[in-house]
Amino acid sequence: MKQDEQIRLVRQLIHQLDTGTNLDAGVVLRNPANAYTCRDRAAQEWETFFQKQPQMVGMSGDLPENGSFLTREDWGVKILATRDKHGKFRAFLNGCRHRGVQVESAERGKRTRFMCPFHAWTYSSEGELVAIPKADHFGNIDKSCHGLIELPAVEKYGVLLVHPDPGGEIDAERLLEGLGPDFDSWGFQDYSYVGSDVYDMPLNWKLAIDTFGETYHFSSLHKNTLFPIFHGNVQCFDHWERNHRMILCMRDIDEMRERPESEWNVREGGFPVYYLFPNVVFNVGRHSITVVRVYPDPQTPGRSVSQVSFYYDPNELGNPTLAGTPQQFFETFASIIRDEDYAAASLSQKSAESGLQDWFLFGRNEPTLHHYHNTYRRELGLPPLEAMPS
Ligand code: FES
Ligand SMILES: [Fe+2]
Repeated sequence: MKQDEQIRLVRQLIHQLDTGTNLDAGVVLRNPANAYTCRDRAAQEWETFFQKQPQMVGMSGDLPENGSFLTREDWGVKILATRDKHGKFRAFLNGCRHRGVQVESAERGKRTRFMCPFHAWTYSSEGELVAIPKADHFGNIDKSCHGLIELPAVEKYGVLLVHPDPGGEIDAERLLEGLGPDFDSWGFQDYSYVGSDVYDMPLNWKLAIDTFGETYHFSSLHKNTLFPIFHGNVQCFDHWERNHRMILCMRDIDEMRERPESEWNVREGGFPVYYLFPNVVFNVGRHSITVVRVYPDPQTPGRSVSQVSFYYDPNELGNPTLAGTPQQFFETFASIIRDEDYAAASLSQKSAESGLQDWFLFGRNEPTLHHYHNTYRRELGLPPLEAMPS
């Protein structure tokens, strides 16, 4: 991010701190609680957002070298992603062309040959069918027509995108609008994968996303965890057509502001949080990225699965001044996001499911949630959320 943009954002945070203000969307919106419980809505979301649109499956660091592979099955389609012998990111249906058994069951690793466990048909990182055991007994088929089914795949700004439809198109610039230049400037394509975690929780996927969308709750819900290191109820917000960016306010800003603006670092005094519509949140620390991909359960609106992946700046991986080991970092992240945010939001889910509470409210100081839910509604052909009469 250019230094003048970093200065603009840090100045905005300092202004809010000094004037005791936060962002002001001007209105309070109300969101029907059945957005989190309705089965028909869940089916519509599944089809619109997860079956027909490109999906973010990881970062470049998930496929660190030629021959690396990654498997995913977050939206019902089993994916095998590879970095082929030329370094190109490829994606395939993880299904053998003989009778459909998945050819790779590990989540990640390095392998240039994928042998189906059923009858040992074997494929390359490029998806080619390279071996059929006892081919003379099996019968004559053209191997060149029986490679793995390839899906459109694009790697851009350090993000791996796959389209679930073999005939689909990926417009990476549009999908990553607003995020790409920042990711590029920070070299996210070089960040190293460190580990992952999974939170399977009794809350709608949008309630999980919502918890990342404001800092109004820091002084209460995160009183003993985040609040000692963040100023709550202070943040920047910029949005594009579907995506947006927040800058949360670290308490390190109190010391950083005393230094010349030319030395300001938005990742030291602030904490950028990027939303990739509809289901991915990037939490950007000073030397790390924590990516949360949230998936619905299309049969159960009150359940979601968050896939959490951690990446470190490769230049800082061995830095002894970094606090704790990756494992300690994962445990801390889970103790806050899973055990505080998601635990609280699962109580919202219960209220929504009671049928007794018609609306949830998004305050003037929660503009991120206004933008997220109105974008979501627009994509589903729904009218914008109603404002509360003032
Ligand atoms: S199903 Fe894969 S080799 Fe038979
Ligand atoms: Fe939170």
